Amino acid sequence: MAEFDFARTPVKVPPVKTDFRCIKTDIPAPQSIAILERLYKFESRSMHGQMPIVWDRAKDFQVFDKWGNCWIDFTSTIFVANAGHANDAISAALRDTLDQDLLHTYTYASEVRADFLQELIERTPPELEKAYLVSAGTEATETAFKLIRLYADRQQKRRHGVIAFDGSFHGRTLGAAQISGTEAARRWIGFEDPNVFHLPFPYPWDRQGNPVNESGRIRFERDMENLKEQGIDIARDLGGVIFESYIGWAAAFFPPGYVQAWADCARANDFLIAFDEIQSGFGRTGKLFAYQHYSVTPDIICCGKGISSSLPLAAVLGRADVLDLPDVGSMSSTHSANPLSCAAGLANLREIERLGLVEQSRQKGDVLHRRLSDLQRRYPDHISHILGAGMLAALIVRDPDIENGSDQLASRICECALRKGLLLVHTGRESIKIGPPLTIPEDALNEGLDVLEQSIDEVLKGGQQ
Ligand SMILES: Cc1ncc(COP(=O)(O)O)c(C=O)c1O
Repeated sequence: MAEFDFARTPVKVPPVKTDFRCIKTDIPAPQSIAILERLYKFESRSMHGQMPIVWDRAKDFQVFDKWGNCWIDFTSTIFVANAGHANDAISAALRDTLDQDLLHTYTYASEVRADFLQELIERTPPELEKAYLVSAGTEATETAFKLIRLYADRQQKRRHGVIAFDGSFHGRTLGAAQISGTEAARRWIGFEDPNVFHLPFPYPWDRQGNPVNESGRIRFERDMENLKEQGIDIARDLGGVIFESYIGWAAAFFPPGYVQAWADCARANDFLIAFDEIQSGFGRTGKLFAYQHYSVTPDIICCGKGISSSLPLAAVLGRADVLDLPDVGSMSSTHSANPLSCAAGLANLREIERLGLVEQSRQKGDVLHRRLSDLQRRYPDHISHILGAGMLAALIVRDPDIENGSDQLASRICECALRKGLLLVHTGRESIKIGPPLTIPEDALNEGLDVLEQSIDEVLKGGQQ
């Protein structure tokens, strides 16, 4: 995959002015270049590669720069702002906490932490009995990894085995990278953990891109055979399996029968089922959590992003006996459960309920997926799949003319949309993802989809290089 270089010098683009979008400068905005250059100079380049726009303000479903440009946001800052950017109730809760003069408590108790944890557990499914709060998604998946291994210990298993899936993403710290599913992203570690067993993700297409219709249960049996051939004894060697609820880059769900077969196997052989809900949680897919699409009961889930719609907050939720596996004081972090993060999390939970955001995600998701299917019918040679559920979608893009050019085509469409006032999720791969704040009005959603269609049209006609 060749890295895509978004234009770093301003390009003249036609002005745009609608109720929801405004483009009045060249893009990138000429005045933004100095700020971008300072970041290129002073920040590690690992943070770069994003589209060249300098955020000044973000409110509900719109993002503004300082120079009068305004975009419809189809990213929710990569699945964070589910309840809308700068949601009024969340901002008010943060102001109240600031006015209380309580910016930090370490692991000492605070009332807001107790309020948040109680409502988090009461407003989520009954299998989630306790929670542990951290700051980043990658800490949550590290924790799940640790809990699975501690569980294997407690059950006196022969090995601390964890099943994970190729193509999945669980974060960038060491443990999270060990279970993530991209070999290139693990290479820096220098060794492969012999107790992490990666299985191929059951994509709905084969290597040649043809549709795969194999049943999930049959696929599961095949994976079992492969594990046995590697000398892995399911009952004695596994502490758990971790699913990214859908594979992030493609918004591809597992076949439900496959996940159900694993859940049955976990019950029969005493290992844990964990879901990484960091991207998919809190209403994104038309259910509170994406694992609910599979009709299974997890032992652990990892949350982040949409858990606060704003501040750094992540969590592991699950069975009380599993969350209590680590000894007192042995699973904590200085910035876990910061009062501001807890206040944001609490207000976010209440907003999700008050605004009916899970239902809104389902309803608007129907509009989104209907329109994307129409788009696929218009461009069958360039859009091979529309995946996702609720207010999550991915267009799998294909460039039939250039070998290995699909990721570049996807990036060019994102850049073209940026110039027209629409922010899409740029994955760097052959997919374009869509995940607007769940609060977006339907007319703004439709306008954004019109812009996506115009952008595809323009790029395919060669109007955007
Ligand atoms: C599925 C999933 N897991 C884990 C992470 C890591 O979360 P964070 O970036 O907060 O560490 C992400 C972030 O994109 C994610 O999408």
